[in-house]
Amino acid sequence: MEELFLSRNFKVPNAHTLRVYEANGGYQAMKKAFKMDGSAIIDEVKKSNLRGRGGAGFPTGVKWGFMPKDSDVPMYLTVNADEGEPGTFKDRYCMELDPHRLIEGCIITAWALGIRYGYIYVRGELQNAIRTLQRAINECYEKGYLGENILGTGLDFDLYVHSSAGAYICGEETGMIEGLEGKPGQPRLKPPFPAIVGVFGAPTLVNNVESISSIPFIIERGGEWFASMGVEKNGGPKLYGLSGHINKPGVYEAPSGITVRELLEEYGGGMREGSELKAFIPGGSSCAVLTPDALDAPMSFEGMREYGSTMGTGCITFMDQNTCMVRIAQRLAHFYHHESCGQCTPCREGSGWASKVLDAIEAGRGRKEDLELLLDMVDNVQGNTICALGDALAIPVRSYLQVFPEEFEAHIEKGCCPYPKWGKGKGKGKKVA
Ligand SMILES: Cc1cc2nc3c(=O)[nH]c(=O)nc-3n(C[C@H](O)[C@H](O)[C@H](O)COP(=O)(O)O)c2cc1C
Ligand code: SF4
Repeated sequence: MEELFLSRNFKVPNAHTLRVYEANGGYQAMKKAFKMDGSAIIDEVKKSNLRGRGGAGFPTGVKWGFMPKDSDVPMYLTVNADEGEPGTFKDRYCMELDPHRLIEGCIITAWALGIRYGYIYVRGELQNAIRTLQRAINECYEKGYLGENILGTGLDFDLYVHSSAGAYICGEETGMIEGLEGKPGQPRLKPPFPAIVGVFGAPTLVNNVESISSIPFIIERGGEWFASMGVEKNGGPKLYGLSGHINKPGVYEAPSGITVRELLEEYGGGMREGSELKAFIPGGSSCAVLTPDALDAPMSFEGMREYGSTMGTGCITFMDQNTCMVRIAQRLAHFYHHESCGQCTPCREGSGWASKVLDAIEAGRGRKEDLELLLDMVDNVQGNTICALGDALAIPVRSYLQVFPEEFEAHIEKGCCPYPKWGKGKGKGKKVA
């Protein structure tokens, strides 16, 4: 992509300061938005085909349309910056290297929807992002871009940074809302959705960092322009985090709908020497695993679905021929078990059992019937829980079993992990099930 948008400031020295951000055209979109009325802004966001960048891909303009037009109580914007999905690391770049773009997006959103208070809910480990955002917010208060009667427009909008306690489940939107209210991050049953009952019982918009950082461009150049930077129903430039056994891991900006092959070869520099692509996870660890025959899958929600996976956060992990797929499934099951909030029996118990059975298989203590048992367990988790963390466990674990059955069988038959790095000899590892 020749001209960069979301990442255009990533390499500009001191772009995190108001002075440099404004010198590069910052806050012009906000000023333009102040001359538009809210419904015109929502229309532009609808036209843009921006799909939520937090993983679920809900159309942002449609979500904005769910917010009440005349609320009796002050409404809230919550920017979800809890980024904790394994393999996903793009939002922190937006916050650390271009915080004012996110703040500008927040102000435009507040103006468009009549929102009074905003929280940027940042993963607790990202202390640098928290400090950088707080400094940028302070600059905006001094300049009159935040607070009461912003630039004489009549908009009152206060923005806060809130540090989370570092639990993955606090990234689930209602878990985040509970966290903001000072409670343990245990997701709520939906409906009611946050647009009706959110923070402190008030209507609340929940959007991802990258989603809100895209708003200034939609206002600056128009929704149709943004949509033209993508494919049908998936608009705009997008940040892709590429990691794994590739030459140039990192965060890259490219249009929505670009193929995985292009991302790997043109941006990620291809697989490392001696590495051959065996599998990839397209959008964070909660997606089904894919094999090289899916390299031409487009990074769009509909396109990825055709290949049996999802675009998720757009952060791809590439794995080479030496990667043990049982071990990957095992590590993921551990993660989701550890991060389960424990409210729903299928998630709490199912993730624990899946994790133990996978431990046993990886350690060479698996039984043939464990494979059926695992599939049965994840079938009982998926779709039977309050939030999507249950699905985030079930979908990948099932996919590893279905796409790489021979690896699970080899562990069971050989009585050990066949990959030299992980297991030598029968029964290595402690008895777990
Ligand atoms: C377990 C779990 C963790 C999540 N973590 C995040 C997160 O860290 N950041 C995020 O933006 N969305 C996360 N989501 C998705 C949010 O619930 C929500 O869909 C998203 O923040 C909405 O913003 P968007 O429409 O702009 O994507 C998570 C969802 C689940 C189920
Ligand atoms: S699915 Fe898991 S994480 Fe989500 S509410 Fe239920 S127990 Fe908690």
